[in-house]
Amino acid sequence: MKVLITGGAGYIGSHCNRYFNEQGVETVVLDDLSDGHREAVIVGKFVQGDFGDKKFIYNFLAQEKFDAIIHFAAFASVPDSVTRPRRYYDNNVAKMLILLDAIVDNDIKYFVFSSSAATFGEPQYVPIDEEHQQEPINPYGMTKLIGEEILKDYEKAYGLHSCSFRYFNAAGGSQDVLIGEAHNQECHLIPLIIRAALNGAPKLKVFGNDYETRDGSCVRDYVHVEDLAAAHYLGLKYMMEHNVTEQFNLGSNDGFTVFEIIKNFEKISGLKVPYDIAGRRPGDPAVLVASNKKAKELLGWQLKNSSLENILQTALAWEKNKRY
Ligand code: UFG
Repeated sequence: MKVLITGGAGYIGSHCNRYFNEQGVETVVLDDLSDGHREAVIVGKFVQGDFGDKKFIYNFLAQEKFDAIIHFAAFASVPDSVTRPRRYYDNNVAKMLILLDAIVDNDIKYFVFSSSAATFGEPQYVPIDEEHQQEPINPYGMTKLIGEEILKDYEKAYGLHSCSFRYFNAAGGSQDVLIGEAHNQECHLIPLIIRAALNGAPKLKVFGNDYETRDGSCVRDYVHVEDLAAAHYLGLKYMMEHNVTEQFNLGSNDGFTVFEIIKNFEKISGLKVPYDIAGRRPGDPAVLVASNKKAKELLGWQLKNSSLENILQTALAWEKNKRY
């Protein structure tokens, strides 16, 4: 099997690329390196390019003959999407349509889509299952919801089967510290906690201590990036066996507040995290916790690396020994 991984030089994509190669899948990573790193592609073929460049992507798909596409390439920062939504609608929706049309016209039948917990908005209940209504409260979440809806229509009309994965909070790095989280503009909690602890400055800003949660800070569901990679492999296999279009929530079924993450990190590292309380960050829901029942039952997905301790330890090891 030969698979194209767009955005495979990014955080989740690079772990997925590695995992697929370990399972014997031939991969080609396509990444424009706007937020990805060439060094993160440790196996498989790498091509630098733009998945939304119509002429390029049509030629590329015609030449390479893929069995399936895994589409990670997207802008993925909630706060950035609130201030610069046009970038998100352009990259995550308009350019995705160009890619999808090239896929359909090249008669490729399987597509794995990086969706997000941000498609749900403020939950009506937790853990959030796949039946939960989707009402995004930020532009990033809206672009991912639109992507999911386009895919449902493309299956009906063009027979393109897809698997949409709504990631909750991807975290951690590879056990051997070869690849890990590295964004040009870091806005995620765990890397910022670690940097504040290792360097003393800048201090972490805790965005809001007045939410209706057990300690006033936001609750999130942290899931290890290597477990997410395994879910993509299982999802692709499932889709190919059953010729279906499905959506799955990928999380640990468990939530931690920002203060709990800080305390746990201090405990496992022996380091102190300097922080200030800041105001709420626009676009942040108070609580996001996944039900992973469907992924477990249909795909046989198992969480092997997602204990909070392992997430924090692998993230810390990566921050100390970053290769890129
Ligand atoms: N937080 C802080 N201080 C920071 C950074 C984050 O207090 O400096 C808080 C946030 O307010 C939030 C939690 O830590 O409550 C986690 O924030 P992240 O930025 O790490 O992650 P998000 O929950 O905002 O975003 C993640 C993914 C998105 C996805 C989203 C679902 O990165 O792609 O979950 O809402 F869309």
